[in-house]
Amino acid sequence: MSTPRPSRTLERLRRRVLAPFFDRLGYDLVPAAPDWSHRPTSPREVDQLLGSAADSLQRDLAASGIATGLDVPAAVRRFWTLIPTAPVRQRRGGSGFNGALQLYVAMRALAPSTVIESGVFRGLTTWVIRQACPDATIHCHDPDLSNLHYRDPGAHYSTADWSTADWSQLDAATTVAFFDDHVSQGRRVIEARRLGLTRLLFDDDAAGHRIHAHGGPAHPTIAMIETLRDEAGRDEARRVTPEPIRWQRNGRSFEQPADDPLAREAAAGVAYAHAFDDLHRATGYSPARLTYVALHPPKRGIAA
Ligand SMILES: C[S@@+](CC[C@H](N)C(=O)[O-])C[C@H]1O[C@@H](n2cnc3c(N)ncnc32)[C@H](O)[C@@H]1O
Repeated sequence: MSTPRPSRTLERLRRRVLAPFFDRLGYDLVPAAPDWSHRPTSPREVDQLLGSAADSLQRDLAASGIATGLDVPAAVRRFWTLIPTAPVRQRRGGSGFNGALQLYVAMRALAPSTVIESGVFRGLTTWVIRQACPDATIHCHDPDLSNLHYRDPGAHYSTADWSTADWSQLDAATTVAFFDDHVSQGRRVIEARRLGLTRLLFDDDAAGHRIHAHGGPAHPTIAMIETLRDEAGRDEARRVTPEPIRWQRNGRSFEQPADDPLAREAAAGVAYAHAFDDLHRATGYSPARLTYVALHPPKRGIAA
């Protein structure tokens, strides 16, 4: 069941009084209407949107090396009917239509029996994972669970960082970890590798020239790890000192060193990574940023 829309009275108050007041202070006050509350309704346009999205996702699954018998067009169509029933209405701070669709299709294709989710926020992605994998055991980690709009009745919740949990009973081969937690993606790769996980999904993977658009940047990101690895090899051959990645956001300066031992260790664990298409051209919704990462299987004695 979807959460109720704001009342007409509240909406009138927002438009006439609150929004102009906030505008003068330099803020936008907008309703938390999710992007999927806007949608085409004529069958031809719906077919076009769903067909384009399915084609794109099919290409991404193939490029990710995810072997699956999933009927992707049927999965996309199913998602189209499910998403209006989502119990979380969010406009900011978490996934929109495209991100939720990517996650749904990727999880259906990967069909894990256990999912570790790090970075839960209001719980939209937990709900998406549950729709995709109804029988999976889901472990949700977030230091702040006070924002939950959806609490999965079968999931295990923890405010501890996932890396400190006891995973001695985990079947790494049938587990997928999904990271959307603003923590260094390089660090998450290293932690996952220690447990013997080989299938990871990351939200908010951004290349160096795009990361300024992200809050709480989780660097080094997967894209940075790949770029720094390629450049380090080239620069070493040319005997040039590698350049760090630098950016500014909200007046703060950030830097990702070029020669970062953590990025190097993470790079050694990554077998390959594939960034999904952002789906904006296919659906018109805000660009999404899901990346699939396959890790090298653990050497004997690495798995916990
Ligand atoms: C972008 S939100 C997650 C959005 C959610 N996955 C969605 O799409 O609806 C990021 C979340 O990461 C959480 N976070 C911060 N540090 C974390 C950590 N060490 N482990 C897990 N989650 C963390 C924040 O509290 C926040 O709720």
